[in-house]
Amino acid sequence: MRSPPSYQDFTANFDWNVAERELGYRPGSPINVAWMCSDRICQLGLANKFALLWEDYQGNEKRFTYDDVRILSNTIAQFLCMQGIQPGERVCLFLDRVPELYIGFLAILKIGAVAQPLFSAFGDESLLVRLADAGTSAILTQKKHLYKVRKIRNRLPKLRHIIVVDADPTSLQEREISFAMEQAPRVEEFSTYPTTAESPSVLHYTSGTTGQPKGAQHVHYSIIAQYLTAKWVLDLQPDDIYWCNADPGWVTGTSYGIIGPWSNGITQVVLDSGFNAERWYEFIEKYRVTVWYSAPTAIRLLMKEGVEIARKHDLSSLRHLASVGEPLNPEAVLWSEDVFGKPFHDTFWQTETGCIVITNFPGMPIKPGSMGKPFPGITATVLDPKSYAPVNRAGAAGLIALRPGWPSQVRGYWNNEAGFRAKFKNGWYLCGDRASIDADGYFWFMGRDDDVINTGGHLVGPFEVESALLGCPAVAESAAVAKPDPINMEVVKAYVTLKGGFQPSDDLELEIMNSIRKRLSPLAMPQEIEFVDSLPKTRSGKIVRRILRCREFNEPLGDLSTIMED
Ligand code: PRX
Repeated sequence: MRSPPSYQDFTANFDWNVAERELGYRPGSPINVAWMCSDRICQLGLANKFALLWEDYQGNEKRFTYDDVRILSNTIAQFLCMQGIQPGERVCLFLDRVPELYIGFLAILKIGAVAQPLFSAFGDESLLVRLADAGTSAILTQKKHLYKVRKIRNRLPKLRHIIVVDADPTSLQEREISFAMEQAPRVEEFSTYPTTAESPSVLHYTSGTTGQPKGAQHVHYSIIAQYLTAKWVLDLQPDDIYWCNADPGWVTGTSYGIIGPWSNGITQVVLDSGFNAERWYEFIEKYRVTVWYSAPTAIRLLMKEGVEIARKHDLSSLRHLASVGEPLNPEAVLWSEDVFGKPFHDTFWQTETGCIVITNFPGMPIKPGSMGKPFPGITATVLDPKSYAPVNRAGAAGLIALRPGWPSQVRGYWNNEAGFRAKFKNGWYLCGDRASIDADGYFWFMGRDDDVINTGGHLVGPFEVESALLGCPAVAESAAVAKPDPINMEVVKAYVTLKGGFQPSDDLELEIMNSIRKRLSPLAMPQEIEFVDSLPKTRSGKIVRRILRCREFNEPLGDLSTIMED
């Protein structure tokens, strides 16, 4: 049996140009992620290999070879060109995990436009904020999500085209157009726009503590890192059947749900359905999944369902397991060793890093609870929060920081230069997380260094929730904070003061929750609302979420003097 290389093998004499060479990229020449993930793979002789095996919650199945993906992405690309969409314009993908999402992503990149994937469970307000900020020109969506787009389109003067992939053309209104990928005449040849390394490619919105979500802008050169990390960390081999649970509305679903596997010419499977343990195990068994990239919340949900259900299925095809998005608790690693015969390998990264930066490699001894070590080519450390100098003491806590300059690093926040600059201190990029490094160089995650709530691996910005809460007629002031949760690690909790004339009640709590769920998303919906007479504030009147968060987690408050003086 093949034994994976050691960490030393990976790091010795490392240079990112390994990936450049393997992808056939010569610095200075055009580089296009979509071409690399489809046309190039066909040219390598893999045109008839399956790129995507797709299934939905009803059991409908579709299969696409690399040649299908090449031709269908050409077909959508040509259609977008015919609508007059220009290179650099933002085109949003607001779709469930249907084939059009994966193939449309490539099509947008083929015309040199910027792909802006948004989670299809977002409500109209979440959508509006992100489309308005990006000045998006076109959106690809489905009939079932059209009502949300219709609600806001009059506030989006730059949104010229609403493209519906499954609509009956007669039911459409102004600016709406139907386009059925598989029924359209297939475009065999399309001349991919000659993007270069620094041409913008993907715009992913991510949440911070302050302000509305920020658009993390990536470039085509990012593929260098996504290709190599997928190959080395996810251990992708030519015959693998790879499954990434993540939705491409979030960065894992694009970096490792599209670009990573397809740039490696791997067959991937997609299940367009929510969590269901029985269904997931059936899916693994049916497709003989070999590599699975999942998330701690999903693993905890599987653990909750019990081992018996797993034992009913033949899961022996699984060769390598990895996880991302939240701390992977040691129990989950041990559980997976027991049930699948192999551990989940924790990987750490962010929307802004574009690729895995700290990780457990396949050939590396795992310390359950640790995120592992930096990927070769990534210089990572933890910094003292006051001096921003590396802590350099085994086991001491600090801020996770990376030396800028790896290929898939975010190039900026859309319309938010100041927010981007604030992420750098002393020549380091700050992730916004705290960790310690042990004597063997393994990183141990400790928590976020800001007020962002990580629920089931999805970041929710407190400001976005609070803004939406203020849109409820009864709410005077609010603070959104994390509350511990056994499955999702954290959920949103809102502290609310009411306007005169409103009384706290269960009905009011439900009404507010529902309003947030509809306008933002089920993830951002507070699971609990506590009505209070007042909120803790600084001398200048700013709400101090930290006090409320510490109360939820039963943590000591520490020194608040500088905050309260603010
Ligand atoms: O707080 C860290 C947490 O998720 C954040 C990044 O979220 P996002 O940009 O949405 O990207 C998620 C998927 C790449 C990080 O700043 N996080 C991510 N991976 C881990 C993690 N926390 C602990 N352990 C991890 N392995």
